[in-house]
Amino acid sequence: MKVLIVGASSFIGLRLFRHFLADARYGVAGTYYEHRKDERLQHLDITDPVEMEQVLQMVQPDVVVWVAGTKNLKKCEAEPEYARKINTTPVEDLVRILPQHAMKPHVVFISTDYVFDGERGRYSDMDVPDPKTNYGKSNLLGELILQQSPLDFSIVRTSAVMGRHGTFFEWVTTAMRQAKAVDLYDDVYFSPTPVTWLLKGLESIVQHRSRGIFHVCGNQRMSRYEFAAALQQRHPGLFVAPLVPTHADASQPLFQKDLSMIPSAVCQPFQTQGSIEELDGEI
Ligand SMILES: NC(=O)c1ccc[n+]([C@@H]2O[C@H](COP(=O)([O-])OP(=O)(O)OC[C@H]3O[C@@H](n4cnc5c(N)ncnc54)[C@H](OP(=O)(O)O)[C@@H]3O)[C@@H](O)[C@H]2O)c1
Repeated sequence: MKVLIVGASSFIGLRLFRHFLADARYGVAGTYYEHRKDERLQHLDITDPVEMEQVLQMVQPDVVVWVAGTKNLKKCEAEPEYARKINTTPVEDLVRILPQHAMKPHVVFISTDYVFDGERGRYSDMDVPDPKTNYGKSNLLGELILQQSPLDFSIVRTSAVMGRHGTFFEWVTTAMRQAKAVDLYDDVYFSPTPVTWLLKGLESIVQHRSRGIFHVCGNQRMSRYEFAAALQQRHPGLFVAPLVPTHADASQPLFQKDLSMIPSAVCQPFQTQGSIEELDGEI
């Protein structure tokens, strides 16, 4: 099975690219835009439909895993046209180009917990999205374009992916190694997702070409403060910084109180422990 990972230079994409490369059942191609993190990656600007067409025709994938996009919340909020240009329009181009060349790969689109309104949390894959941010809206539009296309698709929503080289995970595990106090919100909730679980969920979905909407996320709802405290409790000799619970500013436009999600059934076979224990291998 030939798998094309669009955005294989991303934090998630590079792990996924190497995960599939290690498995002889898959032929794997991956794209980068500005950061060629592996010499096997080929260039693709997803905002250039001509280049997209060339790459798709060259690779002829059985499965496309779409990981490219922006998760720059502030920039998406300030520039809705930027959010649409990077997160939505390229998906429109993809579903238009593929049938023009008689290609019908299964498309796996990585989406986000931000498609929900962030009011009550514990969102299941049956809940109706209602995004408040331009980032969430641009991802939901991508989801809808796929759902309305003639292609086989999976929408994989994930939340705060944690692991080596992940922005928040690197920051918090580096900060907690020092003596200086670390401030963390204790009133904003999410479902921290070990990257290894996301890889396993994606592998299962790709292997079975499972159709539908899947929440591949951590199995514990917690605040950022609780997440750091749980890591510290598990690795007391390593993480020594005092943790200071702080409150998020509920008046700011990007405030989302609770974006936690409930993992879909596809996660059951590998979620045999808690998210914090699963992260041991990333520390
Ligand atoms: N990380 C999370 O916690 C999380 C949670 C929920 C959902 N997601 C979603 O998962 C996806 C990947 O997240 P990530 O954290 O792994 O992303 P990331 O590290 O921020 O990387 C973004 C990716 O998009 C590519 N890209 C940006 N503009 C492009 C363009 N014009 N043409 C082609 N590629 C372009 C980048 O390529 P270059 O680096 O080569 O320029 C890079 O591969 C995002 O869409 C995000 O919304 C992530």
